[in-house]
Parts: sequence; C-alpha cells; structure tokens
Amino acid sequence: MAVMAIAVVAQSTGVVLSKSPLFRNGIRSFPPFSVRFSSSASTVSSTLHSAGKPCRHKWRTAVASLVERGGVQIARDDVVRDEPTNNIPDTIFTKIGMQLHRRNQHPIGILKNAIYDYFDTNYANKFDKFDDLSPIVSVKENFDDVLVPPDHVSRSYNDTYYIDPQTVLRCHTSAHQAELLSKGYKHFLVTGDVYRRDSIDSTHYPVFHQMEGVRVFRPIDWESSGKDGTTYAAEDLKKCLEGLARHLFGAVEMRWIDTYFPFTDPSFELEIYFKEKWLEVLGCGVTEQEILNRSGNADDVAWAFGLGLERLAMVLFDIPDIRLFWSSDERFTSQFSGGQLGMKFKPFSKYPPCYKDMSFWISESFTENNLCEVIRGVAGDLVEEVTLIDNFTNKKGMTSHCYRITYRSMERSLTDEEINDLQWNVREQVESKLNVVLR
Ligand code: PHE
Repeated sequence: MAVMAIAVVAQSTGVVLSKSPLFRNGIRSFPPFSVRFSSSASTVSSTLHSAGKPCRHKWRTAVASLVERGGVQIARDDVVRDEPTNNIPDTIFTKIGMQLHRRNQHPIGILKNAIYDYFDTNYANKFDKFDDLSPIVSVKENFDDVLVPPDHVSRSYNDTYYIDPQTVLRCHTSAHQAELLSKGYKHFLVTGDVYRRDSIDSTHYPVFHQMEGVRVFRPIDWESSGKDGTTYAAEDLKKCLEGLARHLFGAVEMRWIDTYFPFTDPSFELEIYFKEKWLEVLGCGVTEQEILNRSGNADDVAWAFGLGLERLAMVLFDIPDIRLFWSSDERFTSQFSGGQLGMKFKPFSKYPPCYKDMSFWISESFTENNLCEVIRGVAGDLVEEVTLIDNFTNKKGMTSHCYRITYRSMERSLTDEEINDLQWNVREQVESKLNVVLR
C-alpha cells in the first residue's frame, strides 16, 4: 500500500483513444467496467503553429522522461521503443505518472475514496487497499494467471499495449489478483490506471481507471450455512455490491445479468436504473477454482469484482466527456475541491465542434484502433470523436472507408488554421503509418 508521489517531469501533447473488447465470450464486446473515460487537456504541439507556418514533422512535443510508480522509477525507454513488438506511443507513456485515482480532489480519487468508505464502514479493517501498483505487468499476470485463453482477442496488439512480447501495460486490475492471492491477501481492493487501445468518442479513452475487489472465504465461513461455497460466495458478493451501489447512487433499482469472464464462474454484471436508463456498473463473479488452486488457496472459495471508475464518475458527477478527467483547466479542477460525492459538474464551455472527413483505400492490416492511435498522436485531446461514415468495396475488391473526425477543445475555441494544420498532419501520418491510400 505504498503511497508515493508521482513525478511527471513534463507532459506531452497528443493522446490516444480507447474502446476495446474485453472479456465477454471471447468476442470483442464492451464490458461495463471496461469502459474508459477520462481526458487530458493536452493540447496540440505549439510547434505546429510556429511562425505561422506549420512545422509538419514536429507533430510531437518533448515527452516526460521519467515517472515514478510505487517507488519504482519508470523511464520513457522502459516503455516506448522503436520496435515492431512495441505499440506504445509517447502520449500513453505520459499518462503513467498521472495517477488521477490518487488525487483526493479529482472525481476519480473522490469516487475511489467513497468506495473505500463503504468497505471501511461495512468491513472495518478487513480489506487491504492497493493503489500504487505499477501498471507495467507481464503477459502472464495480465492474461495467463487469470485464465484468459491463448487466442483471446484481448491479447492482440490491436487491443493491448505491449512493451515487448512478454510485457504489457495492464488492461485490467485483475492482473494483480493472482500475485496478491499468492502472497496471502484474503480481502483486497486494487485501484489503478489501465490501458486499452481503442476508438474515439466521449466515453472512451485509452487510459482509464478500475477498482478490483477480492474476498476469500475459508470452509468454516460457509459450512454452517448449509450452502455450498460457490452459492455462499455468490450471495455474499451480490449483497456486498448492491450495498455499494446504494452507497453511491442512493435507492436505485438494480438487476443482475449473467455474463462471462475467463476468471469467474458464475459471472455477473450489475446494472442500475439511473436517469431512465439501465447502466452497467460493474462485472464480477465467483473466482475460478483454478486461480485459487494455483495461488495456494485450494480449499477456499472467493469472489471478485472489477468496476470502471470513469464510467461511474461521469454519471455521478454529470461529466459529459471523458477527456475532461485529464484536464488541468481550473474551471474543471476547482469544481471538485470539496473532495465529496454529490456535486454536479457545471460545464464551462460549449466551444464549437469542427468536422473533417477523410477517405482512403484500406489495406488488409488496417484497423480502426490503429487509425485512432495515429489521430490521437497528432491531435491529442482535441479530437472528440472518430466515426466511420461510409464504407464500400468496389468491383476490384478494394475497400474504401470514410471517417469523420470531430475536433473540439474542452477549453477554448480552435481556429480554422489550427484545425487545418491538424487535419493536414493527420492525413500525412495516416498515409505514412497505416499503409492506406488517401482518396
Ligand atoms: N477484469 C474485468 C474487466 O476489466 C472485470 C472483472 C473483474 C470481472 C473481476 C469479474 C471479476 O473487464
């Protein structure tokens, strides 16, 4: 439970995106807690506009060189490498030191603390809390140890950030389950930043935050109940999480949906009825016995849950765009200085969007995640959304895509010149990096 400050030496421009599949049925889908949100206020490199003439090759600013996590220093070279087995841009590296979840006056930190309050009140001194574990984990920790099948889509380079073939930026806090269980922890909460390659819109961002909870039961806990361990754990899990949802949202209607995760069986999602919509709040289930067997807990049963903090914070605080979480604009940050749940964000801007369309012939290797990565690399958090608006295949079998890029700053009006420069750079980068032919 280290509580080390993070030193971000400098902050880059650019940003990336997110909306990965995850652990449902092995199909690319959208687990609730996997929803990413958050935004950074990073603006485009000023070098784009120097002396009135765009410097087209300087589309990235200098990047932080060192961050610190959990007492360990992480250098840029530890994460970003110019090798085909590395798909991590500078924009992602610069997020590693940010730790929004450890800021008590930031919506993500406030929400973490509110969840801590719930566990402290209902299970005094029971749950160990971790919020500073390094997001750099092995493929084994991120996938194998939680039984993600070898061919699961979430392992692909298209969906996960790889430092090298054995090392990734964790794509979920479940990456820490096995290790903590092996170390003997029986009740714990792990909060951290997680990373997924994804497309771009107001609720998806390539870095977001999750909280994982795990509780282990010994046979003595369930034997006297007359229930088997799995039933006992599943009932306890549901009771615990319904209480948590009430703690956060008040007296809301809830429902449980059966689902699939490789690491739990049975698996559920909790939904609440909020503002006239069913909202997925979290994923959870009874831990697969194999995970307990391998971690020295063979006689026990356990439950686990994982929830996405941005998704919940957007709803609880009325935050309309995930990029805002990363904003250092005082008009955003000052609204959360009370450090309390319950306040509603008052939007301070309605700056106009600007749309730019772009058509190209794709190649076989084209993916939307790669496209969005390039666009975020150029435009950072000035890109609000990327949408496929046209798609056809001609008689020769060539496929054309047309994407609409929405540019909009959360913090200021963009000039035509600035947007044109961005779009020019996007086109150039897309063509040179993605093996597509612009039309
Ligand atoms: N790791 C899952 C995800 O990110 C969430 C989860 C955690 C589900 C624990 C079940 C148990 O999508």
